[in-house]
Amino acid sequence: MCGIVGYIGDRKILPIIIDGLKRLEYRGYDSAGVALVGNDSYFIKTKGRISLLEEKINNSYIDGNYFVGIGQTRWATHGEPSDLNAHPHIDCNGEIFVVHNGIIENYYEIKKDLIERGHRFLSETDTEVVPHLIEEYYEGDILKAVLKAVNKLRGSFALAILSKKERDKIIAVRKESPLIVGIGKNENFLASDIPALLPHTKNIVILKDGEIALITKDEIKIFDMQGNQIGIEKMEINWNLEQSEKKGYKHFMLKEIMEEGEVLKEVIRGRVKDEKIELNEIKDKDFLRRVENIYIIACGTAYHAGLIGNYILTDLLNIPVKTEVASEFRYENPNLSKNSLVILVSQSGETADTIASLRVAKKLGAKTLGVVNVNGSTIFRESDEVLQIFAGPEIAVASTKAYVAQILTLLLFSVYIGKIRGDVDEDFEKFIVGEIKRVSEFSEILLDKKDEYLEIAKEIKDLDDIFYIGRLLDYPTALEGALKLKEISYIHAEGYPAGELKHGPLALIEEKVPTFAISTDERVFEKIVSNIKEVKARNGKVYSIVRDDFKGIIKESDRSVIIPKTHIYLSPILSVIPLQLIAYFTADLKGLDVDKPRNLAKSVTVE
Ligand code: F6R
Repeated sequence: MCGIVGYIGDRKILPIIIDGLKRLEYRGYDSAGVALVGNDSYFIKTKGRISLLEEKINNSYIDGNYFVGIGQTRWATHGEPSDLNAHPHIDCNGEIFVVHNGIIENYYEIKKDLIERGHRFLSETDTEVVPHLIEEYYEGDILKAVLKAVNKLRGSFALAILSKKERDKIIAVRKESPLIVGIGKNENFLASDIPALLPHTKNIVILKDGEIALITKDEIKIFDMQGNQIGIEKMEINWNLEQSEKKGYKHFMLKEIMEEGEVLKEVIRGRVKDEKIELNEIKDKDFLRRVENIYIIACGTAYHAGLIGNYILTDLLNIPVKTEVASEFRYENPNLSKNSLVILVSQSGETADTIASLRVAKKLGAKTLGVVNVNGSTIFRESDEVLQIFAGPEIAVASTKAYVAQILTLLLFSVYIGKIRGDVDEDFEKFIVGEIKRVSEFSEILLDKKDEYLEIAKEIKDLDDIFYIGRLLDYPTALEGALKLKEISYIHAEGYPAGELKHGPLALIEEKVPTFAISTDERVFEKIVSNIKEVKARNGKVYSIVRDDFKGIIKESDRSVIIPKTHIYLSPILSVIPLQLIAYFTADLKGLDVDKPRNLAKSVTVE
């Protein structure tokens, strides 16, 4: 949530900041602003998208020699989206500029105190206390003033700070919310996410929790919250610029779905050899033998992938497995011990609730395994073990390619731990590896059926309510199909275990309320036929996402999308593809901003 960028160097600053903001617009897009400092200062902000900010800039007078700049694209927490609430925020004298991502929990007390001391506030935001606190503490050294100020703050914050009095530096502070410093030659960068840095550098320093960076043109110094200088750990980004661009697609979401076949190959690269699965990244293999219970923790789409992992692990191992949404788990009293394994599934690796759950698990002595896309993210760094999903940059707010990569990674892990514990034999491993190797090819067949999805999208785009049903492993797919549709097309959609329809929701079925029935498991194929009949008897239309040999379902459905036959553990990877594309085409036909749905933002770094 909220994208932050900063630049210090000899190039023209404004285009670099604006380009960076555009690359981070998926993090929030209700208002935007920039501040530049040099011989003079330039400060502009607006409610609305970055394109509006650009318009405002084009109509403004900007003529100065600037050395340093920061910008922000906002997802509102405190204070509605407005010109005044947009970032940057300033102190009383307009000399200190601050952009922020996160929430300052004790801002109200601080604000009250500062008002009593004569500070004048312009916005309703929590952020505005920061420049005023820095002003209060400033005695000729911006770093010292920032240190004093941030030690007064509670909550989560990534801050970028400029001062007119010290025009040769950016101060960046990280507490919980992510910030990355990009290392250039005679120039340096700051961003809350990698895509903003990709056009400029692959060498980065990921700030850790509680670190403050002093960034000049030629140098980066890192301090702890007490002001002690500490060492810096550089790393190289393994993503490239092309991966983070649209490559001719109308939207990032479509591009990312179309990449799924390749992503599935990436997930298994180096991990599936001959007829075996080897996860060499797992350091403590002995622990896998001792595991007594497993929790899978995640949010949203990643949670649905977790439900699939849950099913497979339960099926293969003889130990309890439970999947929970992170925002619940973090406040529960889970049954964890030193022989518990807690798997955190997260595309971004920065989701606040999932990070909090990871820390709860560690505190209770459990072993943690991050299933993460972004290398160097908080969950990536703080988990005891990590399996990267290798989906590449995911820019669209709606998660798609990361989802299929998460499922496949969880499947690899499930078979691997099963093998280590003696629950999976060589024959099954050999068989499932064969199926895994074919899944990318099968996904391409489904990615090619765009015309079929477009036809369905045309039929549903003006409807208000849609149900998605499935049983066993098709149930999480129903949940995910409904989530994809509702978040980008704003059509109310609900996923249900198919058997639950008659326990309430059937009351809503009528001609204008269709149902998507997902069916890929022969054990419950006939049950789904009955569920479809129940819907049809109430005049509800049925679209089925169905395995090619389930003729009974195809016969009962109004329209069917045929899924190639594979093992049930792999079918969720295939059956979600039509649902993702139907959601995409529906939103696009409605003329909606598919990549940036209303009220949402990618990477939920606040609670
Ligand atoms: C939905 C979506 C969200 C995320 C959720 C978790 O399309 O993108 O539901 O899946 O916010 O995000 P990560 O995986 O980054 O932890």
